[in-house]
This record gives sequence, C-alpha cells and structure tokens, in this order.
Amino acid sequence: MKDRKIVVLPSEDRIASHFTALLYDLLLAKKGYETLSVALSGGSTPEKIFESLSLHHNKTIDWARILFFWSDERCVPPDDADSNYRMARLSLFEKLDIPEANIFRIMGENEPEQEAIRYSGVISGHVPSREKMPEFDVVMLGLGTDGHVASIFPGNKGSFLSEDITAVVVHPQSGQKRITLTGSVINNAKNVVILVTGRAKAEITAEVIENDKNGDFPASHVNPLNGNLIWLLDTEAAALLRQKGD
Ligand code: 6PG
Repeated sequence: MKDRKIVVLPSEDRIASHFTALLYDLLLAKKGYETLSVALSGGSTPEKIFESLSLHHNKTIDWARILFFWSDERCVPPDDADSNYRMARLSLFEKLDIPEANIFRIMGENEPEQEAIRYSGVISGHVPSREKMPEFDVVMLGLGTDGHVASIFPGNKGSFLSEDITAVVVHPQSGQKRITLTGSVINNAKNVVILVTGRAKAEITAEVIENDKNGDFPASHVNPLNGNLIWLLDTEAAALLRQKGD
C-alpha cells in the first residue's frame, strides 16, 4: 500500500467535496483527454453523497471524462428499487447529464454467472491492466456492519482471493444473488475509497481500522498493493476511533 489516509469530515456535503477534489486531482494528473475509471459502491451511503455531488459540483470537473463501473450490483432489473445502478442514475447521472457511453452497468437482469463473465469482459475492455488484472483509478466501497465490502461477506474468503475479475455471491441474510468485484481487483486499484457515514457504523469502523488483527472482516483485507487506501468518514462513523483521522 502506497498510503493509507483516514479523513474525518462533519457532513455528507464535505465528504462529497472531498471526493470531488480527489477526482479533480486524478483527472489533472491524466494526460490530454484521458479518462478516469471509477467503480461506484452501492447501498444507501453513497446516495446522499451523489446527490451532493450533482448539486454542488456539476461544474467542478469534466464528468464526461469519467467512466463509471460498479464495485457490486444486486441481481435485479435496472429499475428495481434495490438496483445500485438505479440509485446512481437518479442521484447522479440524470442530474449531471453523464453520457450513456460512459456508464457500464452490471446487468442485474441477466443470468448471474453469464453476467459476471460478460461484465469481466467489459472491465477488461475498458480498464487498463497492471500485473494482468484491471487497474481502476478509483474503487469506491461502503462498509457493512458485518465488515463486508462490495458484496464480499464474512466467511467468503474465496471471493476475496479469487483471481477472477468478478464473482457471483449470495447475500447471507437475504439470499439475494449479487455480482461483485473480487478482492484481487479491489487491491489492484490505484485508489480505494471506503466511504462510511452514520453512528451505526462506528463500532465496525473502529473494529476494522484499529482492532481486527485476525482479519475476520473482509474490509480488513482491503490493501491496495500499489495504491492508496482512503477512509472517508463522517464524524459519527469515526466516533469510536482512538486516532481521529490523519
Ligand atoms: C451494496 C454495497 C454494499 C454497501 C454496504 C453498506 O450493494 O449494498 O455495495 O457493500 O456498500 O452494505 O451499505 P449501506 O451504505 O446501505 O450501509
């Protein structure tokens, strides 16, 4: 890991601004009109961040230079309330007028195993590789209260260590099928941003960042070998950290 940063901010707007500044700096470092590959996380945390991005930062960066992928997706149709794509479409894409050509959704309506193969091919075709694995500029993750990231749940080391690009997994509680990036791809990224907000995540955030020496939680294995790891926390999620941010 090149660098690990813990950034603690007071609000979702400030988190959105910080994330935008990261994208801005990464775009600045690109040559000419090169694009940035960003894998979005799902769930509820990013929604308010995306809304803030689209409200306050629609002119801050050239969003047309960003290629959007997903860290994981539920195996549901794109208009399903559970769809991570639908959440990003409503909170980000429609408000920022992002070209359809820049959006590479996981087709949750397809047969999962077939879609995992298809999506792995889409990633390989659009994201440059390093050490034979796709190297995203940014992989965005959330954190489950059980310590999962993307859709890699506790006890599912196979999906973390897999040398495949994606895996089909089953949510341990709901039984819902999901397609997820594997840990090999997550840890091959140039930047991994783990976005956590809310007091309900304070215990697991402190556990993963400060206490999980045995690596019981999938989040503890996020370790971008040649990249940066940035924990982007609000003050509530950071409430139990002994060291409050770098
Ligand atoms: C998903 C996510 C998942 C999420 C965490 C946190 O598809 O649900 O990718 O990994 O980031 O479960 O979810 P919340 O933001 O809803 O707490």
